[in-house]
Amino acid sequence: MIQNFYPFFVLHTNQSTYAFRVMESGHLEHLYYGRRITVTEARDAEILTEKHVFAPSNTNVYDENYTSFSLEDVCLEMSSYGRGDIREPLVEVVHGDGSSTSDFRFEDAAVTQGKAEFKTLPGSYDETNQVQHLTVALKDRHYGLLLELHYYVYEDCDVITRSARLVNESGETVQLHRLLSAQLDFDTPEYVFTTFHGAWAREMKRTDVRMSAGRHVSASYTGTSSNRANPFVMLSKETTSEDFGDCYGCNLIYSGNHYEAVEVSGYGKTRFVTGVNPQSFCYLLAPGEDFEAPEAVMAYSHEGFNGMSQCMHHFVREHIVRGEWKRKARPVLLNSWEAAYFDIDEDKLLNLARAGKEAGIELFVMDDGWFGNRVDDTQSLGDWQVDTRKLPHGVEGLSRKIKEMGLDFGIWVEPEMVNVKSNLYEKHPEWVLQIPGKPHSEGRTQRILDLTRQDVQDYIITEMSRVFSCGEISYVKWDMNRTFTDYYSSGLKPDRQGEVAHRYVLGLYRCMKVLSERFPKILFEGCCAGGNRFDLGILCYFPQIWASDDTDALCRAEIQTGYSYGYPLSVVGAHVSACPNHQTRRMTPLKTRFHVACFGVCGYECNFCDMTEEELDEVKGQIAFYKEWRKLLQTGDFYRGRTFTGQTADGSCLMLSRGNVTEWTCVSRDRSCAVGLLLQKLVAPNTQYEYYRARGLAPERKYCFTYGYQPANEDGKAAECLAYGDALMYGGVKLKQAFSEGGRHGDMRIVGDFVSEIYLMVSE
Ligand code: DGJ
Repeated sequence: MIQNFYPFFVLHTNQSTYAFRVMESGHLEHLYYGRRITVTEARDAEILTEKHVFAPSNTNVYDENYTSFSLEDVCLEMSSYGRGDIREPLVEVVHGDGSSTSDFRFEDAAVTQGKAEFKTLPGSYDETNQVQHLTVALKDRHYGLLLELHYYVYEDCDVITRSARLVNESGETVQLHRLLSAQLDFDTPEYVFTTFHGAWAREMKRTDVRMSAGRHVSASYTGTSSNRANPFVMLSKETTSEDFGDCYGCNLIYSGNHYEAVEVSGYGKTRFVTGVNPQSFCYLLAPGEDFEAPEAVMAYSHEGFNGMSQCMHHFVREHIVRGEWKRKARPVLLNSWEAAYFDIDEDKLLNLARAGKEAGIELFVMDDGWFGNRVDDTQSLGDWQVDTRKLPHGVEGLSRKIKEMGLDFGIWVEPEMVNVKSNLYEKHPEWVLQIPGKPHSEGRTQRILDLTRQDVQDYIITEMSRVFSCGEISYVKWDMNRTFTDYYSSGLKPDRQGEVAHRYVLGLYRCMKVLSERFPKILFEGCCAGGNRFDLGILCYFPQIWASDDTDALCRAEIQTGYSYGYPLSVVGAHVSACPNHQTRRMTPLKTRFHVACFGVCGYECNFCDMTEEELDEVKGQIAFYKEWRKLLQTGDFYRGRTFTGQTADGSCLMLSRGNVTEWTCVSRDRSCAVGLLLQKLVAPNTQYEYYRARGLAPERKYCFTYGYQPANEDGKAAECLAYGDALMYGGVKLKQAFSEGGRHGDMRIVGDFVSEIYLMVSE
């Protein structure tokens, strides 16, 4: 609900309230964002207003008519440089006269119904037209620029989204140096800024920084949303836990360079901003032109990190992911990559698919290596013609044979790239991002096609349309394996080179939009050397993303925990792979690898033809289990319990379970059933007691709790007990005493390193 009690604007979701006002000077003062409060008239919002009487010494007042405050010490909805505020601005423009001072003041506001679409960018959507939209227009009266701030209220998810649009209504061209998406000011300093950092194969490592002064930045300059720093971030209090306390989550619907910063001012006020990274960004706006900033998604919960994650999960499932696959069960796939890498041929693939079919696999995916002369990663990207030495009957013949086996067929592509050693590069060397006449940096011996150019976009759309129609293709893995260097487009004038990174993303979105709409039945999975472009922009077109090239169960537990703060299980690709693991050489039980993968969109990526019969039987059981429970696992509410975060770097805190255990629960939306996981990192001697505590159950309902899904008792039935939801959540189930030297008994738990168990809870 949006209340317009001019000069107050109050936005309510079910559990949160967001408020700001127009100051006498015309600036927008941010008043409140937090737990829902009651506002029935303007006066109710007045108490939220800071009482400004004088500007602190050594600060500047806005002008001689308004001497009771300095913009440096006011919580603002948007800010710019030059009239007193010296903190991170939302907007930065260099005008025709060379000045970079802006002065935006309130012009008018309107509340409308429904989600408006962006002209150039993907955004959230609302099928039911329930969402309310507040547009606030501000004008820089000296330079003729119009700034629109957009707010959308998704009440059911406790989410408010924000974006901004700048229109050049002046008579001269201006340089836009930044237009961020959202700014959030708090009147106190004590916030913890949580970011998710990493690198290839170790994405989404949670990092907490306690802010007290200065600025902390989390940003990407890889050209993608990146594995270095995901655009999803959180702000919380030091006392916030998984289940209690204030938690703000923010994500950006954008797949390129992004920027999130928290700054604590000299007056103890905290500012958070998020948007397109201003690093090297310079966008020319001619008279009459406009620029849209991507949509930022903000969620608040007073029920800790889990509470906020619930809002984000619900929002992503309902208002980001779209199309045929939005609500469809995702198939269990078998991918050829770790089984064969580039060394594929029709016989090998058919044998693998046959073994997969035996085990219960539903979709067979041919990964890299099927086109051009793709024997390794040094050549052929761009030449999307089948290698008939490997596939004599083409993709068509292979896919038909796989269909005949009763499996769906999927294919791998990397459309945005070209190898220098390719026909495409020979024909169109000008189609790559490169600085003419200058040496080029190398990354996986490939170059990035210049998607700022419409002819290159058209080529990708045509080529991929041909590939996606060249057989019975039900699934596409869209990969992208290089980070950006040499940002330069031969299609743009020198003074427009600051637009390349953003225009690339817009070009990519055009390709993804056309292709996903042209092939609505295909299930697309985004991939970027694993999680190097895992974001809400991609998820607007592709319903799932390969989360990491690291398939080690232990690493994956941590990586998937990281994703779970901002993303639901249904968008996280997770595979069971071979051991020793190809990324870490670690041995983990097959059971554990599956347990971790089934808290995601579960698939397999190993050579079934190399497995023992015993292992294949185990896999068969796993797939059967996953099919039975995947509806819950792909659509249920996910909660974190204890996690590995907090483990000391050398793994030395083995004493008792702090940091040594990952505990997850996924509960059906109607709370009638749940699946739980307990995963132990390392065995510690003489630590015998362990428990599993559920989350999200109905406290008053009785559940049948099953210890492990595999038969455990002599009569072939898994051990069970009956318990109320509250006991399972607040008390937890005490597990059997674990093995310890001196205590040899038949009725105990034998645990080892990297061992896990799954628990089922079904209400009566
Ligand atoms: C990187 C991906 O993340 C892998 O899964 C695989 O598809 C390779 N690329 C293929 O080159």
